[in-house]
Amino acid sequence: MAIELVVNGEKTTITSAPDTPLLYVLRGELGLSGPKFGCGLGQCGACGVLSDDVARRSCVRPVSTFEGQNVTTAEGLPALWAKDQGIAEADLHPIQQAWIEEQVPQCGYCQNGMMIATAALLATNPNPSVSEIKEAFASGPLCRCGTYDQIIRAIQRAAE
Ligand code: FES
Repeated sequence: MAIELVVNGEKTTITSAPDTPLLYVLRGELGLSGPKFGCGLGQCGACGVLSDDVARRSCVRPVSTFEGQNVTTAEGLPALWAKDQGIAEADLHPIQQAWIEEQVPQCGYCQNGMMIATAALLATNPNPSVSEIKEAFASGPLCRCGTYDQIIRAIQRAAE
């Protein structure tokens, strides 16, 4: 049974089995390399996707649970921003621009999850304090390089 969802703004028909974790579909069937396989247990957040403004861990959720939903990965953030602004296209989402300006990534593995979690946070709290950011990120995503200070600065820059 084919599953329909909207991935990064495009209507997509999925042919993988309904119980396949969304992460496997994104990477294997759709060729999106932004979301990463980290723990595979829903703990690290590297696989995060935005689903209707909520950050979800795609490694543990079957693709069928996203039927009919909008799913955004780091690749889709510029198009999401363009749509929000009513413009044709954007090269980068402000979160991605802030990430560059604050030189956040080291190994880069967690960055998709970090930016997705940031988008979810800013959707509900457009101007978070440092303590609010720490609280929102208390259960991840995790950064093995420990770039949390740069991440906090980038989130606040993106919120400006
Ligand atoms: Fe999904 Fe770690 S890979 S939470």
